[in-house]
Amino acid sequence: MAQSPSVLGTPHQRVDGKFKVTGTATYTSDFKIDRMAYACLIQSTIASGTVIEIDQSEAERAPGVVAILTRQNAPKLQALPEELTANGAPGETRLPFQDDQVYFQGQHLGAVIAETFEQAREAASLVRVRYQPGELRTDLLGLADEAIEPRMWGERVKLQDKRGDVDWVWANMPQVRLVDETYSTPIENHNPMEPGAALAVWEGTDHLTLHLSTRGVDLTQKVLASAFGLPIENVRVVCPFLGGHFGSKGFNWSYFLVAVAAARLTDRPVRLVLSRPQMFDSMGQRARTVQTIGLAADENGKLAALKHATLTHSSMIYQYTEPCGSLTRLAYSCPNIQINHRLVQLDFTTPCPMRAPGEAPGFFALESAMDELAVKLNIDPMEFRVRNYADKDEFDQRPWSSKHLKECYDRGASKFGWSSRNPKPASTRDPDGRLVGWGMATAIYGASQQPASAKVSLSNDGSIVVQSATHESGTGTYTMMTQFVADTLGVPMERVRFELGDTQFPPAPVNGGSWLTASVGPAVVAACTALRDKLISLAVEGPSAPLSGQSRTDIVIADGRVSSAKDTSRSVSFSDLLANTGNQTLEADGSTKPGDAYQKLAFFSFGAIFVEVRVDPDLGEVRVTRVVGVYDVGKILNPLLARSQMLSGITFGIGMALMEATVPDMATGRMVNANLAEYHVPVFADVPPEFVIEFLDIPDTNMADNGARGLGEIGIVGTPAAIANAVYHATGKRIRDLPITPDKLV
Ligand code: MOS
Repeated sequence: MAQSPSVLGTPHQRVDGKFKVTGTATYTSDFKIDRMAYACLIQSTIASGTVIEIDQSEAERAPGVVAILTRQNAPKLQALPEELTANGAPGETRLPFQDDQVYFQGQHLGAVIAETFEQAREAASLVRVRYQPGELRTDLLGLADEAIEPRMWGERVKLQDKRGDVDWVWANMPQVRLVDETYSTPIENHNPMEPGAALAVWEGTDHLTLHLSTRGVDLTQKVLASAFGLPIENVRVVCPFLGGHFGSKGFNWSYFLVAVAAARLTDRPVRLVLSRPQMFDSMGQRARTVQTIGLAADENGKLAALKHATLTHSSMIYQYTEPCGSLTRLAYSCPNIQINHRLVQLDFTTPCPMRAPGEAPGFFALESAMDELAVKLNIDPMEFRVRNYADKDEFDQRPWSSKHLKECYDRGASKFGWSSRNPKPASTRDPDGRLVGWGMATAIYGASQQPASAKVSLSNDGSIVVQSATHESGTGTYTMMTQFVADTLGVPMERVRFELGDTQFPPAPVNGGSWLTASVGPAVVAACTALRDKLISLAVEGPSAPLSGQSRTDIVIADGRVSSAKDTSRSVSFSDLLANTGNQTLEADGSTKPGDAYQKLAFFSFGAIFVEVRVDPDLGEVRVTRVVGVYDVGKILNPLLARSQMLSGITFGIGMALMEATVPDMATGRMVNANLAEYHVPVFADVPPEFVIEFLDIPDTNMADNGARGLGEIGIVGTPAAIANAVYHATGKRIRDLPITPDKLV
């Protein structure tokens, strides 16, 4: 079947770009509804204890107050089912208003609902809560004895695992070793531009619509139906645009249940938008990790043993484990590996995935340790990695679906000029007297496909609408999916409208795990392929069909027309074809799920990242001055979107390496820098002038039809270690505790 020239692989601008820059893209807090009231959360001001009394007398008298929601008058919520909470699946198990216990600072005790946002916020500040304080648990290392050993992260990742016998190697073989070095990463918070936002609208007492900034409309629908005891079809969740999430916004969070309860109580639509400080206590965070790595290699640099032990924390109301060792088991060829995770429950807010959960902190530890051992062995750090190249997934003994990491190393090294690196630390200065250092690291991230579905509808004016309950978090879903439609149906992109973010559309997975394109893309293609088949049938079947007598295999679909390849005079536009048959619209559905290949092969994306830093020897200030990243992420479907994703992932890695840290006050459990003035994220000035991102662009023929693996998260993986390794090379100082702030270098 011949086609119009493919738009897949071309650098198409975002189809939703103009809506965003003109302010017409509707984010959750842009929706306005008649009689809408505003809610402001009432939050605990202690981290552990019991609520004795909520004194709302003053708040009730404040101007504009409509109602005050607390445990006393909240609707009864029903516990969430196993499927939503089991096996370390992220999100909070405990729903709000269940009891008077306080488990962390900022826990939601209720909300004030008022006529305006300002009135709600003012009145909420007048609510006085009396507590019986409890014992405080904030000391991760001090409470390490009480750690549990969680079994699973999600349904896939084993948190305790080993192959071979690490202990035997350690005890009996005279290897070059890195002995139990400890690497740590701080608590980090998701800081997307758009905070969490909800607008709850009840129709009567049994139909609910929730506008919510979420990357999981279908999941949220299940949570709401279950918590409020509604038939699932009576609950609608809508989210056409997200202003980013970085991993938050996907799970069950208390604030939107409070918004729905507030709307129920007041019988009015209620909007609840989180403030920036509330982004630090109400919608997850990345927990602190303390990781110990032990490595042993022979004199030639062949790895013999690798131990990776992680100590981390969750809240008292949920057991979520940052899975730092998840990819350590397969990153390198090594016969003896031991992975362990221990979890302490503390009086801090519930953690959840944050961009590359596990891999981001885990590879900081692993790739720093690899650098340290390379130094001990006196082998170039990249060469050391090549000597331990894994030709298959040694853990599950599976072949890779497609792996070209060696090409990433080679191309990256040559772009960067790595071969001219003087291995001696602190040996190079720039003309300003700053120390110059070069470092590198490996990046790996899983590639997967989730079940998804889509529906396409062609109108008799030739326009095409495709729907799927997926999400646009700013990464380009609208554009990418429009490209799939245009490509499959042979129409210009302008003729296609893609719609998403609504539970009324065919189901799609939570937008995460870097799987969106590889999951929803195939469903969209399947729906469009089914529509093609219907168009061909209409064109050739029956005596009055416009292309009757032509064989199906001779039909070409291009430029919005169905034509015969044999006889170019025989051609009909989509609109005429529909008019001819009296159809107003023609519809088709598509559903896809991962095939057998996922059982047999190991699907991963790979990359190599090289960075240059300059360090001021007096001030300890680190600037990243050059980045070269080369990635093997399968086929590149839109180079503009792909580069943009990788640019943001690596920039996120710069923040993780040098800036981001949420600081808890151990004496109160309060996060002391819950704002963007004191929680630093990278800005334009922190991004290097020379930022080279290249893709091998080799299709993974084992992936579903488009050959693309994900690239949303791999950018942050490895980057913090590459920077720490460059800082070591610049200064001779090995910083094992992120972020690398100036005080650690002077
Ligand atoms: Mo990613 S934070 O696993 O969606």
